[in-house]
Amino acid sequence: MDGEAKSIAVLGAGVAGLATAKTLKQYGYDVIIYEARSALGGVWANNYRSLCVLEPKWVYGYPDWPWPRETPLYPPASHVRDYLESYAEHFGIRDRVRLNARVVEATPTNDGRWRIVAESNGERDSAEYDYFVMSPGMFNLKKMPDWPGTETFEGELIHSSEFRDGEQVGGKNVVIVGFSRSAMDIAVDIVDEAESVTVLHRSIRWPVPEKILGLIRNHVLLFARWPTHFAPPWIRPGRAARFLHGPLRGGVNLFWKFFEVLLSTQFRLKQHNLVPDRPIKLDLFTNLYIAPPRFFGLVGDGAIGTRHSEIESFENDGVRLTNGELLPADLVLCATGWRHDYSFLAPDLLVQIYDADGMHLYRHMLHPALPGFALVGGVQGINSATLYAMQATWLARCFKGEFALPSAEEQLAEIEALKAWNRSFVTERPNRAQILNLHQLPYLDDLMDDMGLEKRRKPLLADQFVPYRSMDYAAVTAGTNPS
Ligand SMILES: Cc1cc2nc3c(=O)[nH]c(=O)nc-3n(C[C@H](O)[C@H](O)[C@H](O)COP(=O)(O)OP(=O)(O)OC[C@H]3O[C@@H](n4cnc5c(N)ncnc54)[C@H](O)[C@@H]3O)c2cc1C
Ligand SMILES: NC(=O)c1ccc[n+]([C@@H]2O[C@H](COP(=O)([O-])OP(=O)(O)OC[C@H]3O[C@@H](n4cnc5c(N)ncnc54)[C@H](OP(=O)(O)O)[C@@H]3O)[C@@H](O)[C@H]2O)c1
Repeated sequence: MDGEAKSIAVLGAGVAGLATAKTLKQYGYDVIIYEARSALGGVWANNYRSLCVLEPKWVYGYPDWPWPRETPLYPPASHVRDYLESYAEHFGIRDRVRLNARVVEATPTNDGRWRIVAESNGERDSAEYDYFVMSPGMFNLKKMPDWPGTETFEGELIHSSEFRDGEQVGGKNVVIVGFSRSAMDIAVDIVDEAESVTVLHRSIRWPVPEKILGLIRNHVLLFARWPTHFAPPWIRPGRAARFLHGPLRGGVNLFWKFFEVLLSTQFRLKQHNLVPDRPIKLDLFTNLYIAPPRFFGLVGDGAIGTRHSEIESFENDGVRLTNGELLPADLVLCATGWRHDYSFLAPDLLVQIYDADGMHLYRHMLHPALPGFALVGGVQGINSATLYAMQATWLARCFKGEFALPSAEEQLAEIEALKAWNRSFVTERPNRAQILNLHQLPYLDDLMDDMGLEKRRKPLLADQFVPYRSMDYAAVTAGTNPS
């Protein structure tokens, strides 16, 4: 990488794009951020009223930018917006953000730079930069299933991202499609205002509680190092991991079975007829979601209905399910997830890094065939702000030449190894190549190793058993005391 290069275009002013811009500016680059929306913050910019961070604030956040003391433990979206605004202001990147500027083309030039074409208020403009770093997010293009009969449906059909508040649901029969965090959050949010709320699930994932047995916060499990040893071993397992997942694998299976029983009991899944039909391991390493604390209780009380079925078609006043039932509906809300949009990259570029499993990049950030290009925020972890700030730091140090990348062949081999590893246990889905979840810590360890820094951020046993907080990486992302 050329350490002399100066200008960088960053796509996206969400958590990842802001961390990228802040860090690259800190390392002396001239940064501009293109943001399609009219505000910064990405998913936190404009969302439903009850949205809040799933993790305690000491876990979700930029390592070197503490939350204000008065912020609630689980920060509501409005606090996240203020937090991101203050971060951008403090680190001098607020005035580097071009709002309402959608990148429509990003093309490498013949002299090794990147030409960015943006659309702003109907006008197009173009500029060249030495680097192009994209942070378009993984959850910003709504995924809407296609059903027959929607044209004559007399009610309303919306995506979870279009739900804002109770006014949209007052006195209505609401059918929610999907069974993950958005579906459950919104069901709980509207239960007092809607006439009825029914959640449709085609599959049931294992829920992770905010507090295990209502007593112990889940970060004890999700953010400590010791549970990562029970997950499928990281790409090149050491001797201990091979032994644990070889001769001792019965013990590992027992460990996860124990959690199935625990969660089943805590959420009364059998009584609610909501026992998942797959092992918990598949969900924890792939589709992990933290259930809103009140959801299963409201299902138990009958305030929220559930159906294990799918919509077959829409009728004038409701939806016909595949089990034959007609559910009355005034509002159908699709909490059916998200799609990616990389349409600003030409197909011949995209084909080198993207397929049905998602993005395939070295360390989830770079590709030898695309010099000057990087992705930050292309991995799904369990505290993304820390993860993306660490990616940004790795990238800035890499651009500056502070550590050497392996050869192109070695990078490609590593990408292939990651692909194979990922496919060996993550269920098929559009972004399975980009899932980290419980493997977030081993991934951060790799970044620390690359940067020549000490990956264990705590002494001895504490490193195994005390949950990692974002501030454990503060010196790294601040660039003050990196070792
Ligand atoms: C409802 C919801 C709640 C979540 N809650 C949590 C949570 O509690 N904890 C957690 O760890 N993670 C959570 N996540 C995951 C969340 O996506 C990350 O925490 C993080 O906010 C993502 O930041 P990002 O910058 O990668 O993406 P985004 O926030 O999606 O930001 C991407 C930005 O890029 C812009 N953009 C995209 N394409 C273009 C283009 N062509 N030109 C210009 N701009 C463009 C978008 O407008 C957007 O502002 C949640 C996700 C969702 C959808
Ligand atoms: N901070 C918060 O409070 C908060 C709130 C919301 C979301 N989030 C995060 O945001 C991310 C996205 O969550 P999400 O809930 O929006 O999406 P999601 O996790 O992708 O879940 C989508 C749901 O829709 C179902 N589905 C998809 N297509 C369907 C179809 N055609 N018919 C029927 N069902 C269909 C899926 O079922 P299958 O499992 O069968 O595919 C799944 O249950 C997650 O990481 C989540 O943790 C956080």
